[in-house]
Formats: sequence, structure tokens, C-alpha cells
Amino acid sequence: MIIAVDGSAASGKGTLAKRLASHYDLAHLDTGALYRALGLALLRRGLGPDIVGEEEAAGHVPDLDLSLTESADIRTDEVAAMASVVAALPAVRQNFLSLQRDFASNPPHGRGAVLDGRDIGSVILPDAPFKFFIDADLEIRADRRTRELQGKGQSVMFRDVFEDMRIRDERDRGRSTAPLCAAADAVAIDTSSMDADAVFTMALSHIETGPGSK
Ligand code: CDP
Repeated sequence: MIIAVDGSAASGKGTLAKRLASHYDLAHLDTGALYRALGLALLRRGLGPDIVGEEEAAGHVPDLDLSLTESADIRTDEVAAMASVVAALPAVRQNFLSLQRDFASNPPHGRGAVLDGRDIGSVILPDAPFKFFIDADLEIRADRRTRELQGKGQSVMFRDVFEDMRIRDERDRGRSTAPLCAAADAVAIDTSSMDADAVFTMALSHIETGPGSK
């Protein structure tokens, strides 16, 4: 079983992906963590969003320390912004492609895979039988992310998180390679007024009764 979950920042796509993975015994890949890990690795080398070149950024992908994907250090607004800058570079996306497809075709454990990101249903796994596109109002997403970061002890303010997210959304939707958009056959869920349980229940019912279940 393969499930693609795409969506905007703090839309609830990661939460949904984790819950589906645990429910169906699937391996889960948070692809945003790959771009964040690359962003952090570049920032640590002193390369900021304005000075990093495409070939240079892409050149760091093959020997990227993947343990960074588990690091709390990637969960900052600064790293998210850097991730979104390098994620717009076609050579970077190309260098992450096979890792993501290999994960789906040979999941490290479980009975299949769920990948969450921006272009899973549209580019990485266009034949995935189950696809979701998760979104919510910007203000609500920024509020969720502010609370999440504050809960982790980061001193952030709503208006800064909101502005960073607005810019990142624009960049993710507007880039020419693999922009954030719903695949034509994705089930769209607006989580603005839904909690995680309601989103999970809705996704489950699509999987159990939708065309991909046959
Ligand atoms: O957690 P949040 O939804 O805020 O972001 P994320 O999923 O960790 O992704 C961070 C950034 O990586 C995004 O803003 C995208 O620019 C980029 N990304 C991407 O381009 N393609 C993916 N499949 C996943 C993330």
C-alpha cells in the first residue's frame, strides 16, 4: 500500500501521514525533513539563502548526513525558509528523487509506505493509489506552528511565523519545478476547522471506500 500526502506548511499533513502509517503498518517518510536537513547543513557551512548556488546545494545531497532529519535543529523557521529556497532548485529536487522513490518501492519496514511533502502525488509517486492534499487558512496554520514552536521552547511571535509562512507558501506554490499543488486525483481536505482525529477519520473513509481501494 502506498499513500501520498501533500499539503501546505502546518496544514496537518505530517500528523495525518504518521497516523496512517501506524494504522496500516506502513513506513513513513517526512520528505520535508530531507529539504530541512539540507538547509541546515548549508547554513552550518555559512551558506545563506542569498548566496547558495544551485550546483553547490545539489552537490551536498549525495553525502548529506541523514541523521539530521531526526535533529530538533531542523525545526526552526530559519531552517524552513532555507529549505524552501533550496527546494526550488531543480538540481536539488532531482538529487532527492531516487531516495524518495526507493523508499516507496522498498520500504524499510511495514507493508508499504506513506510519504508526505509537496510533490509526492504530482511528481514523486504519480501512480500512488491513495493521494491526499491537505490545506488550511494561513492564519490558522501560522497559529498552529507558533504554538508548536513555543511548545518546543522557541521564543517566536505569531506575526513573524505568519509572515515567514506566507513567503514560504508563495515560493512553494510559485516555483517552476514541482510547485505545491494538488494532483488531479488527490482528495483535498481543508483542515481549518477540523482536529487531527476528524482529518484521520475522513482520510480513512476515503481509503476504505475510494477508487484506490479496489
Ligand atoms: O513542516 P512544514 O510543513 O512547515 O514544512 P516541511 O514539510 O518540513 O517542508 C519544508 C520545506 O521543504 C517546504 O516549505 C518546501 O519548500 C520544501 N519541500 C518540498 O519542496 N518538497 C517536499 N516534498 C517537501 C518539502
